[in-house]
Amino acid sequence: MFGNEGMGYGRFLYHTNHLHCENIPLTHLAQRFGTPLYVYSRAAILENAQAYRAHAPHAARVCFAVKANGNPTILRLLADAGLGADVTSGGELFLALKAGFAPETIIYSGVGKLHHEIEAALAAQIRALHVESAMELELIAAIASQRQQVASIGVRVNPDIHVETHPAISTGAAQHKFGVAPETAVTLLHQAAQHPWLKPVGLAAHLGSQIHEIAPFTAAANFLVALADELASGGIRLDYLDVGGGLGVAYEREKWEVKSEKIGEWVTAVAAPIQAAGYQLVIEPGRSIVAEAGVLLTQVVYTKPQGKKMFAIVDAAMNDLIRPTLYNAHHEILEVRRTSKVDRTCTYDIVGPICETGDFLARERPFPPLAPGDLLAVCHAGAYGFAMSSNYNGRLRPAEVLVDGENVHLIRQRQTYEHLLDGT
Ligand code: LLP
Repeated sequence: MFGNEGMGYGRFLYHTNHLHCENIPLTHLAQRFGTPLYVYSRAAILENAQAYRAHAPHAARVCFAVKANGNPTILRLLADAGLGADVTSGGELFLALKAGFAPETIIYSGVGKLHHEIEAALAAQIRALHVESAMELELIAAIASQRQQVASIGVRVNPDIHVETHPAISTGAAQHKFGVAPETAVTLLHQAAQHPWLKPVGLAAHLGSQIHEIAPFTAAANFLVALADELASGGIRLDYLDVGGGLGVAYEREKWEVKSEKIGEWVTAVAAPIQAAGYQLVIEPGRSIVAEAGVLLTQVVYTKPQGKKMFAIVDAAMNDLIRPTLYNAHHEILEVRRTSKVDRTCTYDIVGPICETGDFLARERPFPPLAPGDLLAVCHAGAYGFAMSSNYNGRLRPAEVLVDGENVHLIRQRQTYEHLLDGT
């Protein structure tokens, strides 16, 4: 199921020296749909989603973080697999509802919810809005009163737990903009309990993203239980505790792992204290479900020696996958057709055509000699890949395909130049 350098990983494995997604050679997909192309494995997505469901207590709610991958077909797959959704904007709420997530399985997190977004969430009767400030609670109360509708709310608390990850994606420490301090959470929940149109139902925390250790998450779970018990002694009994998402993915090939096993370990650990205390568990995983399920397929256009370097210029760029330049993130890159003896004697920077030095997908990587037309697969691109893409430099957003065994579904068409005129 997973492998090493020689085999590929997960559902992306070599058969007779051709990298496949499930049963389909990636070369066929490049011929049929062109490059750059996002390719996803349906089986990989489902396996990870099911690992969450299987290891979580029966009543738990696994809310997929739509920001990781908002492709409508993938969202539908996850809704059909019994997951809920964690949304962070009116746009994601729209996508989640369109994909068929039951409203009572949708939670809405985010520090800057707008009037019309709160209205839309109340109109859809989602499970809860997760409040992130006193002013926001006031606005929700005003809108709920005006609509004469009870708004279910959770409060996102900032547990001040520090984690090891990239600083841009660490969110649960006191200096971050997210959530409110524990004492404020208690105050807000008491205010909500006294308001005729507000109903406090949950308490949430999210530590950050791409975190490998399990201990900070169990610390967050214990922290939430302690705070909820304190609230209970003050007469407020919450339904659920939400420990957020954030489980990391092994991007480097030396660390490749069986994702579903890691998921099982994580859920079992975070569920224990919450279940023991008698609360429903809610979690918001994104990356760990979809990252390994997708690759970005690209083609070498030119090679070019420059100074002491060798560049391989490919047809994908930072507008397709911004993670390498934005976070200095490492994504392995596999040759789609490899020679029988792997001979990695050349060192390349894999770069796109965008007019920025930061436009790279990888730096200083060993490869066999590359030539125009060679296909490369950028691994673990299923999360925060297409979702963070843009039209920068007048580039068209790529197509996306979903592989299911021997079948291939085009789940998003490549943009055309006409899209660059949208709305003008
Ligand atoms: N819940 C909340 C409130 C979040 O803010 C996030 C991610 C998640 C859940 C899902 O976290 P995950 O399980 O995917 O780690 N663009 C960055 C990641 C940003 C994550 C933002 N929040 C990247 O490409 O690494």
